[in-house]
Amino acid sequence: MAYTDNYERDTYGIIAFWLRNDYDHGRFFDREISHYETELARANQNNIVRLGKVWEKAAKKQGDIGTLINEAQHATREFHSLLAFTMDKSLHCEVIISTPVSLIDHMVREAEESQRVFKLIESGAKVSPSDAILHESVFWLRQMADHLGYIRHYLDISNYDLNFQVTGMMQKFERLLMQATALQTMIRTPRNETLPVLTQFKKMIIKEAKSLESFKLELDELIKKCAAVTTSPPDLLEHIAREAHHLWRNLEEERIT
Ligand SMILES: [Fe+2]
Ligand SMILES: [Fe+2]
Repeated sequence: MAYTDNYERDTYGIIAFWLRNDYDHGRFFDREISHYETELARANQNNIVRLGKVWEKAAKKQGDIGTLINEAQHATREFHSLLAFTMDKSLHCEVIISTPVSLIDHMVREAEESQRVFKLIESGAKVSPSDAILHESVFWLRQMADHLGYIRHYLDISNYDLNFQVTGMMQKFERLLMQATALQTMIRTPRNETLPVLTQFKKMIIKEAKSLESFKLELDELIKKCAAVTTSPPDLLEHIAREAHHLWRNLEEERIT
């Protein structure tokens, strides 16, 4: 089953997207914790179980939204704390893990973004289309550039041409991120109208995110068939393709979810 078949964009679906995101992060992180770090591995395992349970509830649309958000917030906060704590230890060279610090930071930022989205759902606050486009672009373009960096990090260096290609794509997304941050300061608040430059930028990002999504899915198939030399977790590419999908869907609808 393609992941888009169970990607839903109602409130339950959005909560499920973010919980699954953290759940996957926990599983990916689990592979990279040294056997010396039993306490960390156990704490992470507890988080995976907890996140998995709340995700299942969200996916099955069980319970009312208020209770679900409450549980999602608790589970996410706890996982976020563990990641932030480990990142600090990593910066002090006090933990034995093979996860790069920037990758922990990447996961921390996604946990924080999910907390923002949960709050937004709870409050029912309205965000203008312009603010939504800028927020989504600035947040996710950095994540997209990171993803390409991590694809390269896991790819074996013997994939010379693929490494070259991925580097080029990463640099493209870095430039797009710079453009998004420039637009964010040039287009001042309150942003009650959507300027043509922003609409044009949005269209370009949707196109780029769609092609990035299909690139990730192509590579995902190779990795799942064990046909690419990489140490990537088997479903990492599907995970990050889903995030590219989430980005262009949000941009199309001009909202933050
Ligand atoms: Fe993620
Ligand atoms: Fe990500």
